[in-house]
Amino acid sequence: MDLYKIIRPLLFSLDAEKAHNLVFWLSERFQDWPTIAEPKEYPDLKTSLAGLTLRNPLGLAAGMDKNARLLPLWKSLGFGFVEIGTVTLKPQEGNPRPRLFRVTESQSLINRLGFNNDGALAIAKRLENRPDDFVVGANIGKNKETPNEAASRDYQESFAILSPMVDYITINISSPNTPGLRSLQDPILLKELLKKISRQRSQYRQDNLPIFLKLSPDIDPLDAEEIVGIVSGEGFSGLILTNTTTDLGLLPESERSWLGEQPGGLSGPLLFDRSFWLQQHFLKFTKDKMPIISCGGITSGADLRKVLAGGAAAAQIYTSFIYQGPKVIRKCLDFISED
Ligand SMILES: Cc1cc2nc3c(=O)[nH]c(=O)nc-3n(C[C@H](O)[C@H](O)[C@H](O)COP(=O)(O)O)c2cc1C
Repeated sequence: MDLYKIIRPLLFSLDAEKAHNLVFWLSERFQDWPTIAEPKEYPDLKTSLAGLTLRNPLGLAAGMDKNARLLPLWKSLGFGFVEIGTVTLKPQEGNPRPRLFRVTESQSLINRLGFNNDGALAIAKRLENRPDDFVVGANIGKNKETPNEAASRDYQESFAILSPMVDYITINISSPNTPGLRSLQDPILLKELLKKISRQRSQYRQDNLPIFLKLSPDIDPLDAEEIVGIVSGEGFSGLILTNTTTDLGLLPESERSWLGEQPGGLSGPLLFDRSFWLQQHFLKFTKDKMPIISCGGITSGADLRKVLAGGAAAAQIYTSFIYQGPKVIRKCLDFISED
């Protein structure tokens, strides 16, 4: 029985963020209970990613569990790995509400949360109780009030606090909801930032800790070759492609009109083609030497197969989990496990 099918109408009758908070509140209380169904293991899908061993290649994308509150649940639902965050150095509230919107017809979300999270210290403390044998990455960003010129300090300090607690770090410079953040993707600023983070990693003797860079689907494709050069030159492990897009033109006309122009980032199936295209474009320059994690609009086993066959080392989902519930994990993994 698909329990999510029954509770989804109730959740979708609530404001999207309230529904999210309610599910988290309940799950936190029940996640340590013996699970109703043991997660299905897929020994044939075990894979490696930048030196890490993943039990399968399907992970939970950043933004769902910003504060690392439900790690045992993600493990027991069958995800191959999870990325917590975005975590900022200091705790912050994020943007005023409402700031998360469902576009149900196209199974999409628009969010302008703005990195609401408990801050690096509190989250590192929570990670002391993280489950074993389950790959956990931390996605880090800068506080809203930190100017871009000082952003590297935020990243370095968050790196120092969180890197001993996780299996990999993701540098997020691609969320559309922190003003100016995405300009750090400019190759000149990017090189400066990654150099400083790389130095920090050496100082902390964490040279073997994989670091990924998460990019926006809206970057100029002409920058791809230079970005790959910088990322590999600074000893980073790989890329996550992509974050949400600000191109609300991807929405069908009918949905744009009722929604109005909600500033924020669009996620879900409308993003798939763009993210996949960018992944293929970057692969021309990474030439299989640097793993790419595909993220953006994956909703089915066929999508997952397409991105993996297209060269991605692993994949992440967020929005399809909201619309389909936990069964999307098994649906995707069963499909590719038949290959
Ligand atoms: C509500 C919401 C919050 C998100 N928060 C973050 C975040 O804090 N950091 C981040 O790197 N990406 C964040 N993302 C982006 C996702 O990690 C992912 O890159 C994007 O949603 C595309 O994947 P999807 O189509 O499977 O959702 C968020 C996405 C959503 C929908």
